[in-house]
Amino acid sequence: MASRLLGRASARLAAPEVTPTTRAAASQPRQQLAGWSCHCSTRQFLGLRAASVAAQSPAPGAAPATSPDPPLGLVDLLSTGARLTSAAQAAWAQVLRPGDTAVDATVGNGHDTLFLAQAVGPTGHVIGTDIQEAAISATRERLESHLAAEVRPRLSLHTACHSRLQELAGSGRARVVAFNLGYLPGAADKRVITNTSTTVEAVEAALEVVMPGGLITILCYVGHPGGMEEYEAVRALTSDLSPSYWVSSETRLLNRPTAPILLLLWRRDDLLPARIRK
Ligand SMILES: C[S@@+](CC[C@H](N)C(=O)[O-])C[C@H]1O[C@@H](n2cnc3c(N)ncnc32)[C@H](O)[C@@H]1O
Repeated sequence: MASRLLGRASARLAAPEVTPTTRAAASQPRQQLAGWSCHCSTRQFLGLRAASVAAQSPAPGAAPATSPDPPLGLVDLLSTGARLTSAAQAAWAQVLRPGDTAVDATVGNGHDTLFLAQAVGPTGHVIGTDIQEAAISATRERLESHLAAEVRPRLSLHTACHSRLQELAGSGRARVVAFNLGYLPGAADKRVITNTSTTVEAVEAALEVVMPGGLITILCYVGHPGGMEEYEAVRALTSDLSPSYWVSSETRLLNRPTAPILLLLWRRDDLLPARIRK
């Protein structure tokens, strides 16, 4: 299910401008770029996407490409250990376009926010939220240290619960809303954690905030107290969405029962206006 969803998203990519950087990425061998690998960096995922785009749109005077890189598939995920944080990032990279709005509903240490910021670029907008002031500061610092001011998107960071997502997003619509549930990695106090009731409210809000043709990803951790209950509540909500308007999928590792589980929701754009519930 997830691979079909990603394939469709990939086919709908608008071609961003091909820059010298993306051309350089296109000339790298595929094995350096491919993968859901846990070693894969943001650049590698974006590089792969850029390589595909460059292959479809050769520079004037350049020899036409024989065939574009195949899209990342399920075997890429499985053969590299199935790190689902990377799978979520790869899905964002496949749908996001320069100038988009993306929402990080749990910014934490800012790794995901940085990825989203690079994907939407300087004309885009990233809205991020976390209940911990330390997370907001860490995220701001990460973006400022990794992205020069001229390539940074507009950044709206809020110390707030993600159940307020609709209010925080305002009237804009996001192409990606990302949730990475649980506690702040490395935090001294691991009791500050997402909880079932506000997470369900936040996902309900995300259903309203994401645009047709957009994606909501929810990475659920079931290995800590309360995590399984939270996952089951979100799963029940997402299982109840009308298939006429949503494609709702789940990726999990059956032989690692405490590993995170990735829920991926695609808001269909072939029927408007969207009626969200059955
Ligand atoms: C697993 S971490 C996120 C990791 C992050 N995406 C990154 O790239 O570093 C989960 C975060 O959710 C935050 N959180 C917990 N409850 C929240 C809530 N109700 N609203 C928003 N964020 C919340 C925690 O403070 C924590 O920073």
